[in-house]
Amino acid sequence: MKQTIERIEQLKKEKDVLVLAHFYVPDEVQAIADHLGDSYALSKIAADAEQSTILFCGVRFMGESAKILSPDKTVLLPDAEADCLMAHMITPEQVLEMKKQYPEAAVVCYINSTSETKAVCDVIVTSANAKKIVESLPNKEICFVPDCNLGRFLAKGMPDKVFHFHDGCCPIHARVRPQDILDAKAAHPEALVCIHPECTEDCVAVSDYAGSTSGIIKFATESDAKEFIIVTEPGVLCELKKRNPDKTFYPLEKLGICEDMKKITLEKVLYTLETFDNQVVMEEKLREDAKSALIRMRELAQ
Ligand code: 13P
Ligand code: SF4
Repeated sequence: MKQTIERIEQLKKEKDVLVLAHFYVPDEVQAIADHLGDSYALSKIAADAEQSTILFCGVRFMGESAKILSPDKTVLLPDAEADCLMAHMITPEQVLEMKKQYPEAAVVCYINSTSETKAVCDVIVTSANAKKIVESLPNKEICFVPDCNLGRFLAKGMPDKVFHFHDGCCPIHARVRPQDILDAKAAHPEALVCIHPECTEDCVAVSDYAGSTSGIIKFATESDAKEFIIVTEPGVLCELKKRNPDKTFYPLEKLGICEDMKKITLEKVLYTLETFDNQVVMEEKLREDAKSALIRMRELAQ
């Protein structure tokens, strides 16, 4: 492993590659990244990067979003098959159907979506900036796609807006039930529950804090509490423990892991740096069509 890491570091420098990693990839991959972050932070870093190449340790929509905003950069994915299950739960045709049904609504699309879907939506959001962006839209009506759980979480805080949802979800976060959280609380009565809003509304209701992965890390780091039950992909525990060596974190076993994020291995990172295989390639028309909704996210999230 030591040799693999040394070679990765050498190739990063030689080939002017910036390595970005999401909090859900394996710990040893997080360790070789130049920047770790949630979907929003990484999309900003990718767009502003000076390096000619970005190696995105995450799932496909993350690499594609980087390519959409930085067409002149080479964007590499360590595993071309690593994909987000939720991204494929809506098609562009279904979005167009919703637009027809609710012509006054703004179509707000979670970044966990395909580029084809982004291309027919008005604005992209991530879990970290969705509240700010949706609140700033002049439209009273909002079509929120594809994640109905994040959508319902947002709608609860915006009673003046009328939301229409698609029925997509993250099958990993959505498998948690309130009883799983109540059982964990009974086992760790001093612990605060931090949950990702991709979990269902009834689970969020029995939790102490709901937010994006970076929101969870910030909350736990700033809190005076010493124990936390973490209801999101357990990859975030690596950063939580690093920043808070004096605190205890309990993953919620029922949630399991995101198999796709775990497809990113050090060996694949090294292979990709050596070969420049698995470049994100996108048709120019699709890239242009998907760009405006991502640019709007960047403007409204400022
Ligand atoms: P973040 O927006 O918190 O990075 O979450 C992305 C994700 O895929 C959650 O399942
Ligand atoms: Fe997609 Fe769920 Fe994996 Fe996040 S955890 S990347 S939403 S499948």
